[in-house]
Amino acid sequence: MRAALITTLALAAAVGLSACGFGANGIQVSENEPEYQGAELFSARCAGCHTLTPAGAEGTGNRGTRVQGPNLDQRVETFESALFAIQNGGYSGAIMPQNIVVGDEAEAVARFVAKYAGGDAGD
Ligand code: HEC
Repeated sequence: MRAALITTLALAAAVGLSACGFGANGIQVSENEPEYQGAELFSARCAGCHTLTPAGAEGTGNRGTRVQGPNLDQRVETFESALFAIQNGGYSGAIMPQNIVVGDEAEAVARFVAKYAGGDAGD
């Protein structure tokens, strides 16, 4: 009886710990996931202009600024569309800088965006 109680408490503690174990800066992707590197890169390079909650990114906070990119919680992106945006500076090429990340890093960010963008998009 007592052993079962201790087990329950230990389990509860473990669950509590893992729930706060995700990234110091608000990244909600587990470090064990293949998309974690992309989440970190997104948080470092893209978060200034884009909202994407799983990366802990909330854009500039000023929704009125011209450089503010689309809220990626509300856009569904494929790997190809995300990589295209990274390589070409968004779809218009006018505001978002091109090639902020390149090569493997660009692919890592695109994989992360493809998996996690559109969380609030509905269907
Ligand atoms: C200086 C601000 C800025 C930065 C930094 C920035 N973006 Fe953008 N991004 C924009 C703007 C503005 C647009 C919308 C205009 C356009 O598509 O040309 C955009 C468009 C996009 C789109 C297309 C969204 C859609 O569905 O229309 C994607 C995907 C994207 N960005 C991903 C990224 C990624 C990934 C990074 C980091 C490597 C990044 N952006 C960095 C400003 C930025």
